Amino acid sequence: MQSRVIDGKAVAADVRAGVARDVAALKAGHGLTPGLAVVLVGEDPASKVYVKNKGEQTKEAGMNSWEYRLPAETSEAEILAVVEKLNNDPAVNGILVQLPLPKHVNAERVLNTIDPNKDVDGFHPVNVGRLWIGERTLVPCTPTGSVILAKTVQPNLSGMNAVVIGRSNIVGKPVAALLLRENCTVTVAHSRTRNIESVVKGADLLIAAVGIPEMVKGDWVKPGAIVIDVGINRVPSANGKTKLVGDCDYESCAQVAGAITPVPGGVGPMTIACLLQNTVEAAKIQRGIK
Ligand code: GUN
Repeated sequence: MQSRVIDGKAVAADVRAGVARDVAALKAGHGLTPGLAVVLVGEDPASKVYVKNKGEQTKEAGMNSWEYRLPAETSEAEILAVVEKLNNDPAVNGILVQLPLPKHVNAERVLNTIDPNKDVDGFHPVNVGRLWIGERTLVPCTPTGSVILAKTVQPNLSGMNAVVIGRSNIVGKPVAALLLRENCTVTVAHSRTRNIESVVKGADLLIAAVGIPEMVKGDWVKPGAIVIDVGINRVPSANGKTKLVGDCDYESCAQVAGAITPVPGGVGPMTIACLLQNTVEAAKIQRGIK
């Protein structure tokens, strides 16, 4: 049986529409227009595209958007000074420093300087702690988007066996925390996991975030499982060009799964939508609004 394809573009558009409604309500009810500042250091082409899209979608949702473009040779001290300035600016509710940063900059020090209540990436150790103990916090965007997509198929994830492949700080660990909050039984598999196929086979919900092109094959997948593919891997294609593939072998997995996200068009579009949602949430947290 061919599985249901989860349309990340459509779900992301719904999330953005919800953000626009929340922004309108904050303006009308509290005189508050949330604002997001993005800091881009250097000329990485992919980062430039992300930052441009973030700015456009922030404005489309009715929020303020600022971009700080700094040359690649900007010193760490200068970057930290920009972050401090944004921390102290009450009009700025969200701060995102685009990664990767140039090699001479200590990225951890920069990210840890962001005010936790403005940390719309949810990477600050204070927010990581809040997530794991179940406090209100800013949750990393890609994990949030992955769980929203799973819930379009099964709104109640309680009691499901969820397997996460990958243990990164950006996706694997926070998505495990979120799934635990959804009352799943969570297994985190990684490069040292023994018999990974049999571990994956036990998953009612599979989140693949490992960064290995098409690693998960259809015969690893439990029939009817929900498969959320976070991988975005560029690989050579037959015509001598390149193509994007996920961490799951889509053709074979789609024969077995109950529902699956495509790459591209699955988790990818959700990330910026969730960033916009976090900017609204940051503004509410800062103003003490529920
Ligand atoms: N670069 C690529 N993805 C991301 C992200 O989610 N956050 C930040 N800060 N940089 C990125």
